[in-house]
Amino acid sequence: MSFWKCLGVDVRARTWPQPEWRERLPNPSSRSHHTDYARRTGSVIRRWRSGFSRSQRLVRLAGRGRVTWATGSDGRYSGAMGVYSKLVFPYLCDWGMSSRQLAELRADVLSPVGGEVLEIGAGTGLNLPHYGDGVEQLVLIDPNPGMHRLLKRRLGKAKVPAVKQVGRAESLPFPDDSFDYVVSTFVMCSIPRRKQAMAEIFRVLRPGGSLVFLEHGLSPDPNVRRWQCRLNPIQKRIGDGCRLDVDVPALVRSAPFMLADLSEGYFARAPKFLGYLYRGTAVKRLAG
Ligand SMILES: C[S@@+](CC[C@H](N)C(=O)[O-])C[C@H]1O[C@@H](n2cnc3c(N)ncnc32)[C@H](O)[C@@H]1O
Repeated sequence: MSFWKCLGVDVRARTWPQPEWRERLPNPSSRSHHTDYARRTGSVIRRWRSGFSRSQRLVRLAGRGRVTWATGSDGRYSGAMGVYSKLVFPYLCDWGMSSRQLAELRADVLSPVGGEVLEIGAGTGLNLPHYGDGVEQLVLIDPNPGMHRLLKRRLGKAKVPAVKQVGRAESLPFPDDSFDYVVSTFVMCSIPRRKQAMAEIFRVLRPGGSLVFLEHGLSPDPNVRRWQCRLNPIQKRIGDGCRLDVDVPALVRSAPFMLADLSEGYFARAPKFLGYLYRGTAVKRLAG
């Protein structure tokens, strides 16, 4: 019996995209309305008097040391595990997450993104090639200095204006209402204080702006869930803090977002305990 069968996991290869995506909120009118709105607002970039947009200006100030960026100062990236996190995990992550099938998913999820964009937990920059011309300024943050080494290489080839900074999603170093989009792919599982991060994402988004996410998380199947709980301690070690059982929709709803669309399903190329994916868009409603 194979290893995965022992774990009660079905790893039969299926084609992708799968018909298994389940639309959680099959409300096309609300989805198209909000996507259209986000697109429209994404193209209208507010500029300060200096002629620079708000995030461009922040980046300039940071370059001059006038903005304090959050750093990995909680010890996660020091000590023996820090060596693994900084020197081994970035390569493992880059190798494990750079498949063609995942690239197709990334491209699909990022297609509506434009304007001023913040990507949290950008890792080694695997999303960079998938940003379209509509992106005016991209800010990438990640707390792991080891990720930044690999990210730097991809940054050189980026088609869109992009800058990277060390930073955590729980304490985003940006003023309120700074971005048109926040992007999060396979990050929520690794953030220690997820609800705080969600509140921060909500804060830095402009009214009408959207959080675009593609995450793995809690499976609806009780058997798979049991294995997710059992394997969590091992996964947290191997995956540098990654949890298998994050309830992504509940997490997004912990902030006052309007969940404009949400699909979920198993990714064919991963074991079920790791490959239950959620993709969606959460909109920060306009005030009033
Ligand atoms: C599995 S990797 C995904 C990387 C990338 N988003 C991708 O799709 O390839 C998870 C990333 O989340 C980052 N991360 C961990 N804790 C974080 C936090 N508190 N805030 C933001 N990012 C965090 C890690 O450093 C890592 O780069």
